[in-house]
Amino acid sequence: MKTLSEAPIKQGTKVFVRCDIDVPIERGVIQEKFRLDSSLNTLKYIIDKGGMPLIAGHMGKPKGQVNENLSTKYLLPYFDEKLGEGKFELLENLRFDSREETNDEKFSEELASKAELFVNESFATSHRQHASIVGITRFLPSYAGMTLEKEIESLSRVMNNPEKPLAVLIGGVKLESKLPIIERFQPIADFIMLSSLLSANWSKEITHNMLLADNRDLDSKDINDNTRQKFIWALEKSKTILWAGPLGMYEEEEFMAGTREIAQKISELTQNKGVYSVVGGGDTVAAINKLELLDKFSFVSTGGGAMLQFLAEGTLLGIEALNTCPKL
Ligand code: 3PG
Repeated sequence: MKTLSEAPIKQGTKVFVRCDIDVPIERGVIQEKFRLDSSLNTLKYIIDKGGMPLIAGHMGKPKGQVNENLSTKYLLPYFDEKLGEGKFELLENLRFDSREETNDEKFSEELASKAELFVNESFATSHRQHASIVGITRFLPSYAGMTLEKEIESLSRVMNNPEKPLAVLIGGVKLESKLPIIERFQPIADFIMLSSLLSANWSKEITHNMLLADNRDLDSKDINDNTRQKFIWALEKSKTILWAGPLGMYEEEEFMAGTREIAQKISELTQNKGVYSVVGGGDTVAAINKLELLDKFSFVSTGGGAMLQFLAEGTLLGIEALNTCPKL
């Protein structure tokens, strides 16, 4: 896989940059900027070299139809402010064209014809076999952006070479989506902790390293006091912590206590005890953003489904496309 530092960017080089721009918008106002912020270093690097980035990506699930509410036009003021007017081009939501999601060859070629180089800076969409992630790499010299590179490096460190003890803390609602990473880490983690809801749904063998919530019932909306103490005991013993999925219904203040206490503990261990912490998943990022702790972890992944898949399988379709694309 080639990385951005190897890209031959000169004055005027047009670079198609597949970014994570799938951010929540309400009445035209961006609600969370974490993903947008994460592409800025790559975009600024291209601009500093004299290149012209074409910012491309998707927002939501318009299913091949033009949908005004999901237009990238709402992002223009953000990029104008961060990068400077006229320093970039912003393409319309790629998913307005159904050929994006079918990885259509002609559409991939059309996208490629707009630029001379391709940069994948969208880890969160790299599990999708889409034209702007996979197809385009057949038509342009292709490179990994800085954030994509950092995602691979940080998540691989937890998977392949964690400083031990390793604690894995998994929350969220659906056990099926978390099962592959629980099973992936079961043989290597020192502690695997599951939220109340996931604990309630756990019907497989409880291995020696598993800490289930004390209050495991299907209606539980937060981990209880005993569970918090038990999880904190394990976190305090750990040198590497992976956390994916809020521990309760963090959207409601009443059920945020578990997520808050655990987030504060992991950030404190990261800041004061040199613990390496990796946090990710769309809802987890929203929760720690609400707690204003986003910059207090070693690494926060931009990926939701992509992060879970990468942690389970060690690679993603978009990364493989960069590894195997023709040398152009
Ligand atoms: C995400 O939000 O995880 C990414 O933007 C991918 O979106 P998708 O699940 O609609 O492909």
